[in-house]
Amino acid sequence: MGPVSQVTAPPATLLRAFAQVMGEAHVLTGDAAAGFGVDWTGAFTGSPAAVLRPGSTAEVAQALRLCADAGLAVVPQGGNTGLAGGGVPLHGEAVLSLARLDGLGAPDPEASQVTAGAGVTLQRVADAGRGLDFGVHIASRASATVGGAIATNAGGLRVLRYGPMRAQLRGIEAVLSDGTVVSHLAGLVKDNTGYDYPSLLAGSEGTLAVVTAARLRLVPRAPDPVTAVAGLPDAAAVHELAQRAMREVPGLLSAEFFGQRGLAVLAERAGVAPPLAVPAPVYLLLEAAGPGAADDLAALVGDVPVAVAVTAADRARLWACRERHPEVAGFLGTALKLDVAVPAHRWVRLATGVAEVVAAADPGAEVIAYGHVADGNLHVNVVPAAPADGRHQDAVFSFVAGLGGSISAEHGIGALKARWLPLSRSPAELALFARIRRAFDPAGILNPHVLPR
Ligand code: MLT
Ligand code: ZN
Repeated sequence: MGPVSQVTAPPATLLRAFAQVMGEAHVLTGDAAAGFGVDWTGAFTGSPAAVLRPGSTAEVAQALRLCADAGLAVVPQGGNTGLAGGGVPLHGEAVLSLARLDGLGAPDPEASQVTAGAGVTLQRVADAGRGLDFGVHIASRASATVGGAIATNAGGLRVLRYGPMRAQLRGIEAVLSDGTVVSHLAGLVKDNTGYDYPSLLAGSEGTLAVVTAARLRLVPRAPDPVTAVAGLPDAAAVHELAQRAMREVPGLLSAEFFGQRGLAVLAERAGVAPPLAVPAPVYLLLEAAGPGAADDLAALVGDVPVAVAVTAADRARLWACRERHPEVAGFLGTALKLDVAVPAHRWVRLATGVAEVVAAADPGAEVIAYGHVADGNLHVNVVPAAPADGRHQDAVFSFVAGLGGSISAEHGIGALKARWLPLSRSPAELALFARIRRAFDPAGILNPHVLPR
């Protein structure tokens, strides 16, 4: 999707004012700004009016005050690893990059918490303290940042154990569009003193406030994890084994699904080693840690063909089969990344029916499906043959809505799904969203083309 409106460069006086706030080197225009206009998938391309790279919360506040006064719309951007086109300026907005807010405090071992700037990568949070880890574990963790992960309420590979980004939030610092700084970073586990706005900002896609820092929960680093990949005949067998794993393996961290087609592309194009000597139609990756984890997994899988890894190198080899799946569709074309969830008892219908549903809309399209089976979540990556004019979203999202599901499990609505939000949310809910939004951002400058106004 290309830019949908003409970009008007901000007046020179405004650019000079930004430069006074954050330094000339951090106000980018023209070619220097272009890279901030393209998303990771390459499906969304816009032209930023300017890119602003503030270096502190105070500079974010001053920059937003200038934008609000000038009526300049702003798209906040973190590591730019989003998959729904919500972090790139498709309508000539300015990009507010939080990358320079990369300060990471010392972890508090008693509270198992750390305070991180919005621009800190999730990998740095995970490595913050000896014996500690971060509960949100996503493939893009080396580039995805705290602010962006909060804005999309990122999920990932360990949600079944630790929950999504929202569940890691113990406090937040953010700037409203009028430059007001709101800060609640004490990290109290119990704190019933009114509205939980950190929770509201999780999943708000940059529409309510600009997150500048967060107080995050850390978790004990899982001891001696064991990773297993089982080869199975179909999605029903995957679901059944994952359900049993959740009941019978107390140390379970992950239950991830992928198929043979995606694996074959990864083997051919990226040199990824298949887990089993004999290919299976579908695979379930299970990871568990703690006392008895290996025995629990062995008892669970029984005589199903399985590859098991305990060393870091072997585990990484097995994980590559799943973690590199986001790249598969990119090897075949430009992907539409549809990320959906249904109630647990409907996951098999979703996983078995979705390719047919896409084929009815576009018989030549390629569908690569993988995802977080324990969360009822399936990533449906579509490489269209017919024009990407919304027919693929129509087909998949209507199917999902019919199953009582959500059109966005963890990637957000962004530009990719905006039109279809009413499939998941009622008119009353959408009207409430708009009222909340006006309360936070009366100037209407924060990511105005994402989520209802
Ligand atoms: C994943 O689960 O791998 C991520 O959500 C990224 C993706 O869906 O491509
Ligand atoms: Zn995912």
